[in-house]
Amino acid sequence: MLKGLNIAIDGPAAAGKSTIAKITAEKLQYTYIDTGAMYRALTYKALEERIDISNGKALGELLAKTNLLLVPSKNGQAVLIDGKDVSEAIRTSEVTNAVSEVAAHQAVRTLMVEKQRQLGEGTGVVMDGRDIGTHVLPNADLKIFMTASVEERALRRYAENQTRGIDTPLAELQQEIRERDEADSNRKVSPLKQAEDAILLDTTSMTIEEVADEISRLAKERLER
Ligand code: DC
Repeated sequence: MLKGLNIAIDGPAAAGKSTIAKITAEKLQYTYIDTGAMYRALTYKALEERIDISNGKALGELLAKTNLLLVPSKNGQAVLIDGKDVSEAIRTSEVTNAVSEVAAHQAVRTLMVEKQRQLGEGTGVVMDGRDIGTHVLPNADLKIFMTASVEERALRRYAENQTRGIDTPLAELQQEIRERDEADSNRKVSPLKQAEDAILLDTTSMTIEEVADEISRLAKERLER
């Protein structure tokens, strides 16, 4: 049996990381871990419980007493908080607009990274996020930094939203994406940044299939080494 690879996919908001990570994990029969969904889940719970999201200590304490699970589902992956399926609830604008602030706290990241490393133990994992190649899995076998222009990313998110019945105007999505990129890239703890040994993949004019094929090709190359 071939050794499973650790694959890290990082990049800015709405670059298609989750879609591609999901396809790659399916193709290789690896575990898929959506780390953004973990930060979103904590944000959802903090908003529900009216916790001040500028208070890192309170958020760290909240996370410590939360049972956060990622489980395989027919749509790829379901996110459970204390047994409740919040997979859809974590995608609202309310959560999206608060998540960068929640994810910027050291107390939150220390615990999350611990959980992510545990989940990634064993063989064969595809993990997507912002700091996977730089911090969570610094020894990953394959690191991809996936980007696309802001205009293209907003268009993709717009199309995805339409299928979910969400009607946020395109200009507003562009603005949200810009703000989140800015916050995620400029925070003090583990900012969004391309790892030195990551392969840059600009997907602006690529189809989902082309991107997935390219990553599978790179993974195959690593497996044959
Ligand atoms: O990938 P996403 O859009 O679902 O991520 C939501 C937010 O979570 C993102 O804006 C920043 C944060 N995040 C992070 O700080 N580190 C990660 N590894 C993944 C996400």
